[in-house]
Amino acid sequence: MKREIFSLILLLGICFAATSQLNSHPESYQIDKKDIDRARQLISTPLREKLVFPNPNPEAQWFPSASLGLFMHWGIHSVAGAQPSWDMIANYPYGGKVSPPDKYYALADQFNPQKYDPDKWMKAAKEAGFTYAVLTTRHHDGYALWPSKYGIGTKQYMNGRDLLKPYVDACRANGLKVGFYFSPGDWHFPGIMHPYQFDYEKWDKIPSQVADSVADNQDYHRFLGYVLRQIEELLTNYGKIDLLWFDGMYFKNIDDMHTEQVYAWIRSLQPGIVINDRWSNVTNPDNPHGSGLRIGDFTTPFECTTPTYVPSKWFDNCVIWTGGSAGWGYDRTGSFRSNSNFMEQLVTCRTLGGNFLPNLGPTENGELHPNFYTTVSELAQWMKHSKESVIGAGPSPGMERSNVMITTRANNWYLHLFPQFKHQVSLKTDKRPKSITLLKTGESVPYNYRDGFVTFNLSEEKRTMIDDVVKVGF
Ligand code: GLC
Repeated sequence: MKREIFSLILLLGICFAATSQLNSHPESYQIDKKDIDRARQLISTPLREKLVFPNPNPEAQWFPSASLGLFMHWGIHSVAGAQPSWDMIANYPYGGKVSPPDKYYALADQFNPQKYDPDKWMKAAKEAGFTYAVLTTRHHDGYALWPSKYGIGTKQYMNGRDLLKPYVDACRANGLKVGFYFSPGDWHFPGIMHPYQFDYEKWDKIPSQVADSVADNQDYHRFLGYVLRQIEELLTNYGKIDLLWFDGMYFKNIDDMHTEQVYAWIRSLQPGIVINDRWSNVTNPDNPHGSGLRIGDFTTPFECTTPTYVPSKWFDNCVIWTGGSAGWGYDRTGSFRSNSNFMEQLVTCRTLGGNFLPNLGPTENGELHPNFYTTVSELAQWMKHSKESVIGAGPSPGMERSNVMITTRANNWYLHLFPQFKHQVSLKTDKRPKSITLLKTGESVPYNYRDGFVTFNLSEEKRTMIDDVVKVGF
């Protein structure tokens, strides 16, 4: 009997432990009526006029020439060098390291960065040519990096410490535009996830929910009340915010995410802001089979791939800069893409008129890996002589004109020779160039001009390991 009672207590203990982290702080999801009413009112009030995209406000016009942004995923996952949020999902193809969720959320107890110095990050980034930054204020796991009125975050686990203010200040002090990543979806929000959703192998067993539209709408309004309140905190407590990078808004049995009303409300708080098109998951406007509903100032269809076409909107191309298995999170191995690969991606984006947004994860202690500094200092050296060919440079005058990529600025075309390119450069142009120089040194490059084609070879000893830019002046 004693043994049975002991086993029962043990079992209860295990059950309690197994759910305690995932269901922790339920009180912080008690949403005030006024916040719910605000959400209801927002989505039930039709817009008086249609929103114009991209945002025509003069303050928003920096985006298409911004060129290079620093993306950072930071949060409790950094403690484990894990993939943000996804690593709590058992058997997830790109994750699962910190499953079940209980284990993942327990990381919150160990997240308390003592060496956080974002000014150091931003100084280094600025020198390497970055013009804006985007930090995860809250990922799908729901952990907020600021002491929000609702949800879980630094309020409960760090005595209300605010990790966003120093970031915003550091961006501004170093002249970078301030970007916030925010995932409206929150897997910690009570009831939003079915337990099977925490195990990838059970996804096909998730019972199709019986829609109770009244109850679901009530839950959704509560959830939206929470999300809008958090967005309001982000957009009213830190001065001017230049960019909002949403990633995933969904709620069981709700299809209409009222994107335009929400974006109009956001612009009422930050008139000059640019917002991506991921508030709700709808189809790529440039996909001929898509619905064309994707709403936002800029689009992000090339995630982790190389852009291949000019989208119908402003765009950025976010990629994972680091190696290792942490995905978007902190990579303990400290491996980075080569700088030639980095530059090739950046140049590709510029030839198509978009921005490159490479991502790395800060450590749990608030530092960037030492290899980040080595990497960006090499980029900074390169930027000293060749920055004008990428940062703020315009799109290609036509891919078919040359066997290398071309960017442009005023009366100049910039030809990019990457290390693996060993051929003669050929450039089609009706006008004879006034000058052709190696951007790094300013020295003239001997060339031929015949039948509307410029041809030249850049000698072996002038070649480097990143990107050798030849400037063609007209
Ligand atoms: C994907 C990932 C998400 C990541 C985002 C960044 O949506 O699922 O974890 O934050 O890409 O672009």
